[in-house]
Formats: sequence, structure tokens, C-alpha cells
Amino acid sequence: MMRRPESGHRNLCRSGCWAACLLTGLIGGCTEAPQQEFAIRETTRDLIPEARAAVESSLLTYFGTPTAAVAWERLPLKFGGAVGQVESVDGPNVVVQWDEGHAPTPAQSAPGSPVVWPGSGVRSGKVGAGDTVAAYDPEKRLLTLSAADPAPAVGDRVALNFGHTLQVGRVVYAKNCGHCHGASGDGEGPTAKYLNPRPRDYRNGVMKFTSTATPARASREDLKRMIREGIPGTYMPSFLLMKDEETDAVIEYILYLSMRGELEKRLGDILKSDYALSEVQKTYDEKLADYEAEKKAGENPDPPKTLEQLTKKATDDFADFLAEDFKTELEDGADFIKDAWTAADEPDAAVLPHSARVADDAASRERGRMLFLSDSTKCYTCHGPQGRGDGPATLDYWPKPGADEKYAQPGLHDVWGNPQQPRDLTRGVYRGGRRPLDLYRRIHAGIKGTQMAGFGTALKDDQIWDVVNYVMSLPYESSAPSSAVPAQQTAATAPRTSN
Ligand code: HEC
Ligand code: HEC
Repeated sequence: MMRRPESGHRNLCRSGCWAACLLTGLIGGCTEAPQQEFAIRETTRDLIPEARAAVESSLLTYFGTPTAAVAWERLPLKFGGAVGQVESVDGPNVVVQWDEGHAPTPAQSAPGSPVVWPGSGVRSGKVGAGDTVAAYDPEKRLLTLSAADPAPAVGDRVALNFGHTLQVGRVVYAKNCGHCHGASGDGEGPTAKYLNPRPRDYRNGVMKFTSTATPARASREDLKRMIREGIPGTYMPSFLLMKDEETDAVIEYILYLSMRGELEKRLGDILKSDYALSEVQKTYDEKLADYEAEKKAGENPDPPKTLEQLTKKATDDFADFLAEDFKTELEDGADFIKDAWTAADEPDAAVLPHSARVADDAASRERGRMLFLSDSTKCYTCHGPQGRGDGPATLDYWPKPGADEKYAQPGLHDVWGNPQQPRDLTRGVYRGGRRPLDLYRRIHAGIKGTQMAGFGTALKDDQIWDVVNYVMSLPYESSAPSSAVPAQQTAATAPRTSN
């Protein structure tokens, strides 16, 4: 079932979660207890109970649950259904200006269909049993409501069958994707632990094989391509036979999971330094250690605050934060996410070569080889001098990003923390597509979420093409015996079209 964000906050309040109610009083209500829940991140779990409740109830309010998704109009998702704006009101009769391409179908506007009020209009949060279509006249765009109390106001957002696309996407996802990518999109489906590379965790907003430059997101076209064609050399299958409508819907659903996951991450990152249980504990341990040391040195220090006192202080501070800043942080986070995904769909977001591919001849390949081996690219440090994916960097101990330590095992890691190999380029299996343009994009923009950075500034257009020509020649020059071909390649290597 699809709900809009602002509906009934009874359940959470009853269970004594005052912070959630305070919060949702500000931003518009929590929803009923879910049957099935999205997984919560470690960072959220580690917050003091009030902060954790605020994050969880916001996510519930604006995204719902896997079985009852919520459509939040602030996000750039194609929720589906008929959506428009109230143009005039006369009792239960409402003339609606439908958004372009979003007028209702006869089924959507049939008597008895539910009417939903997204946004912050008069009726938001006041949905009652009477909120259904009594009659609809498409000529006059005249919607007669089954109940007119309270009457909507001119300018209110109104929707029929709202979130239809997201619902279709959810069903397609549950059937085809969830067992690998997980119900929450965290890449932890039941099949995931047997796979290498791991299914994508969508919750950071990062996709690897995009047409866009770093750090831009993937465009809907990119996602469509990967879903249709699969990712060769990995277990990500091709869904070429899936109906277009279903593919489009599942794209909206993974974007929804991604936006939800990223908003949770952003909130957690903001809150964790002051309101995490582990931080409070750390402060306590440090103060206690100082106290013990000072005592040992013969001083007479004041005893440190107890853990309870420190927790109470964090809780009180959080109450202020909740009243003053939380809503802004939440909305800023949503707007940031919105802008990032919207930008990826702009026509100029795609990386396009400035010049045509350099003729693929021996001279170009040789220039490409020299660049591959040069210090301006250092391709060889990862991919090895012959491109077999065995460069010296695979033996280094790499630092963990954002932490003061190194990974326990040598070799490269992606941003999700999984160990990974630089591609063995002699195999000719390209996960991001095997058109020369795809390889151009990989070299220009790098592979997001991995340690392969982009070379769009280090190399000129012609040089990138020379490297493309060289890389594409590697499988043919290779003297690798054919028996060395691919444990890797046997996995779901879908045939690729070359569009
Ligand atoms: C059998 C397991 C499996 C199934 C089923 C599966 N995937 Fe994947 N998917 C993967 C793996 C593994 C990767 C990671 C590949 C990589 O990192 O190179 C992936 C990656 C992706 C990516 C990220 C591509 C990128 O550039 O980062 C998207 C998007 C995606 N899958 C969507 C879907 C959708 C949508 C479905 C269902 C229609 C689906 N997947 C079903 C295993 C699966
Ligand atoms: C710091 C290490 C590193 C450097 C330097 C590096 N790569 Fe990579 N490269 C990787 C890793 C890791 C992958 C596999 C990423 C994945 O699929 O998750 C990869 C993958 C690739 C792929 C496969 C793309 C696909 O679609 O499957 C190509 C082609 C490639 N690199 C070419 C290059 C070239 C050319 C250079 C130099 C201009 C280069 N790489 C520099 C680490 C590196």
C-alpha cells in the first residue's frame, strides 16, 4: 500500500517515543508500525535513543517501509499516478490543473479511487475514510470528492493512484533483485554472501559504471543499460526481456532505496560526533583515564562526570538540536540528494569525447602502450605491465579511506570495503560496456566507488583514444593459454548489444 508522508502518528507516540512525536509535530507525522522494516545502519543504531528515534521516524515518515512505501514529492522520483494542483474549489467540487503528462486515466479517476494530498496543503495529514473520488469529469477537469471537510485550498497538491510506478517497481524488485541486493538495497540479500564482486549496496548513491563524470551520479539511462545488459563477468544478470514499464519502474525503486539510504547516512554523519553512544563512552573513558593519571601523579582532581551524566547531557543537547536544527538538516539533505540525482540526468552530464576515435593502428596502440606504462597514468601499477591485473599496487597495504588505519590484507578495496582486483585486461571482459565509447568513459572518468580514478585531466582526448586502442588490443596480443580464461567470465556473462 502506498501512503503519503503526513499520516497518523499514533503508534510511535503510544510506544512512548516522545522525540519522534516532537519531531514529526514539526515535520508532519509518523506512520504506523511496519510489518517489514528496512535495515538500519550501524551508525544509526549507535545513536542515543532519542537521536536514533528521530532518524528512524523521519525515514518512516518520508519513505515508509518495504511493504508500504511513501511518496515524498521533494525527491526527484517519478512516483507515478495522476498529480496536479487545485485550481478552484466549490464545496466538494474541485477543478484540478494536472501536471503535464499526469492527467488521470479513467481507471485512476473511477468513483471510489483514493485521493491523496501530497505536500503541505490543507488536507495533508487529515486523510479520512471519505477521501475518495465521487465523480470525475475529464472535460472540465472537475473532481468531485466524497468528503469536503476540511475543504482543500487553491494551490494544494492532489493526486490519484499516487505512487503507482513505485509500487510496480517494488514488486519487480522483490521478485528479481532483492535476493541479491537486499530488501533495503544494502547489497545484503540472502544470495549476496556467495558473490564476488558483491551486489551493489545502493545506499551511498554510488554506482560504478556511469556515463557521467566524477563525482556525478548515474543517469536513469545508465541504470537502464545496466539492468538490460547486466554486468559481464559478474553475477549481475541481464534483464533484457523485462517489459519497459517494469524496467522503468524498478529504476525508480532503486533510486528510492538509494535516496533513503543516503539520507540516513547523511543524518548519521551529522549526528554521530555529538550523539553517538560510542562517542559518549569514549569521552567518559578518556576523562576517567585523565582523572586516574592525575590522581596517580599526586594531584587532587575533581572526579569526572559519570556515564549517566554525560548521556543526559547529550540527550538534553539533542532535544535542542531536534527543536532547532534537525528539520533543516533533513530537508537540506533531501535537497542535496535531489540536486545530485537531477544533475546526472541533465543532457550535458554525459562524458563525451571532443574528437572522434583516433584511427586504431599500430602507431596509436604503441602510443597508448607508452602512456599505459608512463608515470602520467600509472595504469601499470595496478593493471600490471602486460595488463594482467597484477601490478605492484596489488601487493601494497592501502589506507582505509577516512580512517587512520590500513586494511588488514594487501591489495585494492572499493568504497564499500570489499577487496578487489584491477581488471585483467587481457580477457577483454568489460563490465561497463565494450563499445570504444564505454572504455573512453571509464578512462576519462574512472570507475566510481573504486580506486581507479579518472584520467580526464591528465590525458588529452587523443591520448585517451590511444589508450583505448591499446587496451582493446590486449586480448588479442595476449599469449595467455585459453584455459586461463575465466572463472570470472563464466558468471552471468550476458550478451551485450552495441547501442
Ligand atoms: C544474482 C545476483 C543479482 C541479481 C538477481 C541482481 N543483481 Fe544487480 N548486481 C549484482 C552484482 C554482483 C553487482 C555488482 C557488479 C560489480 O560491482 O561489478 C550488481 C550491480 C548492480 C547495479 C550497479 C551498477 C553500477 O554501475 O554500479 C545496479 C543498478 C543493479 N545491480 C541493479 C539490479 C536490478 C534492478 C536488479 C533486478 C532487476 C538486479 N540488479 C538483480 C548482482 C545481482
Ligand atoms: C589505483 C589502481 C588503478 C589504476 C591506476 C588504474 N586502474 Fe583500471 N581498474 C582498477 C580497478 C580496481 C578496476 C576494477 C574496478 C571494478 O570493476 O570494480 C579497474 C578496471 C579497469 C578497466 C575495466 C573497465 C570495465 O568496464 O570493466 C579498464 C579498461 C581499466 N581499468 C583501464 C585502466 C587504464 C587504461 C588505466 C590508466 C589510464 C587504469 N585503468 C588505471 C584499478 C586501477
